[in-house]
Amino acid sequence: MHHTESLCALLRDSRSISVLTGAGVSAESGVPTFRGKEGLWSKFKPEELANLQAFMANPELVWEWYEYRRRIIDQVQPNPGHYALAQWEKEAGSFHLITQNVDGLHQRAGSGKVIELHGNILHNRCLRCGNTSQSREVHFEGKVPGCSCGGMLRPDVVWFGETLPEKAIEEAFAAAETADLFLSVGTSAIVYPAASLPQVAKSSGAVLIEINVEHTALTPIADHFLQGPSGEILPVLFEKWRTVRIG
Ligand code: APR
Repeated sequence: MHHTESLCALLRDSRSISVLTGAGVSAESGVPTFRGKEGLWSKFKPEELANLQAFMANPELVWEWYEYRRRIIDQVQPNPGHYALAQWEKEAGSFHLITQNVDGLHQRAGSGKVIELHGNILHNRCLRCGNTSQSREVHFEGKVPGCSCGGMLRPDVVWFGETLPEKAIEEAFAAAETADLFLSVGTSAIVYPAASLPQVAKSSGAVLIEINVEHTALTPIADHFLQGPSGEILPVLFEKWRTVRIG
């Protein structure tokens, strides 16, 4: 990755960094992305698995699919991209990490504050009383897991057609509006409202850097497009930030 003079100057002068991540940041860990040839949506129908109507129609099928994804996540590890962001958070004055991912790998890499826009697949929520639990004890073994109130449990993720957690979306937009450097990493940037965050940051004066293995809908407005795997680019970019800051 060739560091242009301006990229180094941007890193040196950044005071408030915000990052939006998508499925691509976990791809090198072995978590499938959603779109693209090997993406989950090329094998499974989101309309049958990732919305409330589908869950009400066939909760066993939906739980089976989420249990399959939970098992994948249990077997993988964070990659150098996750670790670089966790370290960056520790060393930067102002650093906000916003993720669309539900895999919890940022937290497992040591990120302290993660704004989870689409929930967390390892958590459960009761359809009746709304209680959420982070218990990994809840497993789907053919019978839909129940809440102590008698209600059905569902994975605590945001399904298509559902609104995002209010606190998370507020924090995410505030992080976008106050950033002077915004990184968009491993997202196709087509699912809203998350996909509007890089644009909000740019129109609020931030410099926008995109990291992706391929061009996306966002690339035309990015100030810098760093093409390649985020597990390789993020550690290098973070080291560059460290170096230019101490001058
Ligand atoms: N490094 C960087 N980028 C990568 C890598 C990698 N190793 N591997 C894949 N990518 C890029 C792909 O090129 C693609 O642009 O990551 C992006 C993944 O895009 P999607 O699969 O669409 O995932 P995402 O943008 O996170 O999806 C948004 O859609 O299905 C819903 O709720 C789900 O949170 C998800 C949302």
